[in-house]
Amino acid sequence: MRVTASTTIIPRLRAGLPSLSVTSATERRERLKAVYEEARACVRCPLHQTRTTVVFGSGNADADLMFIGEAPGANEDRLGLPFVGQAGKLLDKLLGEIGLQREDVFIANTLKCRPPGNRDPHPNEIETCRSYLLSQVELIEPKVICTLGNFATKLLRADTTGISRLHGQDEVRVIGVRAVRLYPLYHPAAALYTPSTLEMLRSDFRRIPELLAIGAPEQPEPAGPRQPPDAPPPPDLPVAEREVEEEEPASWLDRVAVVADPDQAAQLGLF
Ligand code: URA
Repeated sequence: MRVTASTTIIPRLRAGLPSLSVTSATERRERLKAVYEEARACVRCPLHQTRTTVVFGSGNADADLMFIGEAPGANEDRLGLPFVGQAGKLLDKLLGEIGLQREDVFIANTLKCRPPGNRDPHPNEIETCRSYLLSQVELIEPKVICTLGNFATKLLRADTTGISRLHGQDEVRVIGVRAVRLYPLYHPAAALYTPSTLEMLRSDFRRIPELLAIGAPEQPEPAGPRQPPDAPPPPDLPVAEREVEEEEPASWLDRVAVVADPDQAAQLGLF
């Protein structure tokens, strides 16, 4: 059962972020396309100067399972789709071994643009790109997120612990406004030429169906009902600690036009 996103509106406002309330699969898809449009025009960091395409992510907008890799490589940059090279082929194979296909999952990256020469993502690039990933998680509402490798794992855990210590250990984490079961895995590229890493990755993959079967973790408590702007503060708190509920800011997603050009939607690769 999907937990409705409406329960996440208040925490998002508290965090000073726009609210995203998804009411249907169609709306989810349209909103994802709108985020894609925003990303496609992104010039927030210097990577826009060297990219060929923005690799937003692809797959099933209603997926219960998301994979988050590092950043597009040369093939991804050329084709506009994630994991289309050798690492992607291995990812497909491992998915197949647990009875899943790409169209069952959503695949994205920590960075949406290729770092030149496939260098490591820079911290400022990860930070700048982070909001696109958080919007994807918020809209897709996955039950399980598999981070592939160090960069995605460190970003989503907000911690520097490395993948060799964390792989195969699931934990519930709040990502943006969404509680998900986070399941760090080795990056498939690391398993391509190291048989022992491949075996660990394969063995960790085998647990994915079990994690999906557990269902969505309990979502963060919504805040209490909002006070009208001129309502008196609660009497039991000192004045300095009384929280004034802010006016709901207009969602930037609401301001972004829904994709009008079907070819652009096709590039998104949503099934
Ligand atoms: N391809 C991607 O899209 N992401 C990676 O992290 C590696 C290859």
